[in-house]
Amino acid sequence: MGKTILVVGGAGYIGAHAALALHNAQYDVLVFDNLSTGHAEFLRFGRHVLGDLADRAALDALFASNAIAGVMHFAAFACVGESVSDPAKYYRNNVANTLNLLECMRDHEVRHCIFSSTCATYGVPEKLPLEESHPQAPINPYGRTKLNVEWMLQDFAGAYGLGYSALRYFNAAGAVPAEWRADIGEWHEPETHLIPLVLQAALDEQRTVRIFGTDYETRDGTCVRDYIHVCDLADAHILALERLFAGEENSSFNLGNGQGYSVQEVIDCARTATGRNVAVKKAPRRPGDPPSLVGDARKALHELGWQPKFAELDSIVRTAWAWEQRRAAYTGSSSDASLEMSNTV
Ligand SMILES: NC(=O)c1ccc[n+]([C@@H]2O[C@H](COP(=O)([O-])OP(=O)(O)OC[C@H]3O[C@@H](n4cnc5c(N)ncnc54)[C@H](O)[C@@H]3O)[C@@H](O)[C@H]2O)c1
Repeated sequence: MGKTILVVGGAGYIGAHAALALHNAQYDVLVFDNLSTGHAEFLRFGRHVLGDLADRAALDALFASNAIAGVMHFAAFACVGESVSDPAKYYRNNVANTLNLLECMRDHEVRHCIFSSTCATYGVPEKLPLEESHPQAPINPYGRTKLNVEWMLQDFAGAYGLGYSALRYFNAAGAVPAEWRADIGEWHEPETHLIPLVLQAALDEQRTVRIFGTDYETRDGTCVRDYIHVCDLADAHILALERLFAGEENSSFNLGNGQGYSVQEVIDCARTATGRNVAVKKAPRRPGDPPSLVGDARKALHELGWQPKFAELDSIVRTAWAWEQRRAAYTGSSSDASLEMSNTV
């Protein structure tokens, strides 16, 4: 068995896929999660401890009783709209609780951390595709909490010798292919992401997807976003961690596939992949939604040696569709979320 990797938030969507990838790469996986937005059904890979990052004593006990070589930190709240209406909840969990984790790592001399950051730290793009050097000026509390953690990582690196990679994801989507028999996938309640919402509308003809803005200066008038398959994200986490183990310097990486797809293109792709109708309704633009958000991930390709395997929208949507049908079987229905789609992450 390889090194022990602590996966904080490993019962969530992306964390569970990272736990699976670590497990497949022969690491000893240790998941820590409070199941606030995660799922006990996803605790399938390695060992797990139920606990909350707010509980410093629980964290100390975890670090004292395991020889943790590195940490992947996925745990956060991630709904942009809720972060505007209840920023305290976001600063408490995403920032204060991360400080607990980083202090605990410092005290137990665990020096390698991979952090789930986001393209939302950039704010409104000045130039596309977004490079890592683009100014970070987030336009909502969620993005600001993530940028706060990036600053904490830099300061802990300077003062205490922490090694870190901040991975700035674009829109995570898709699921582990059904033939891998891992039975995990995207499952947020409420769901705010476009692809699962479109697929839920394909499953249930009572549901409608609202398209916010059809008059943007994009190829078909709808917003363009960069979708990245969750298994490709998971692979990048392992590469980033191994790069730290090899003594490489701290860094930030965009994780996207450099290609934008419009909301309309996602809906068309879902109609083809599912063979079903997706009912849509046009709605006005929402404030704060840039017309286009596409990342330049060349740094991750070159410096991490990352090679996305599911770059095409079609493979993202098809794996998501296979999962969405299994998830509906789990829960008896699709999510209760209203079909509001989110253009930001
Ligand atoms: N989904 C995306 O498209 C996307 C894009 C950019 C960044 N991110 C970031 O990636 C990370 C994972 O996103 P996700 O979509 O998998 O979210 P998720 O909600 O599915 O997973 C988060 C996990 O963290 C756990 N958690 C939260 N607070 C905790 C705490 N205090 N103590 C212990 N466990 C806690 C939850 O129970 C859950 O299992 C988040 O940090 C998010 O901000 C996600």
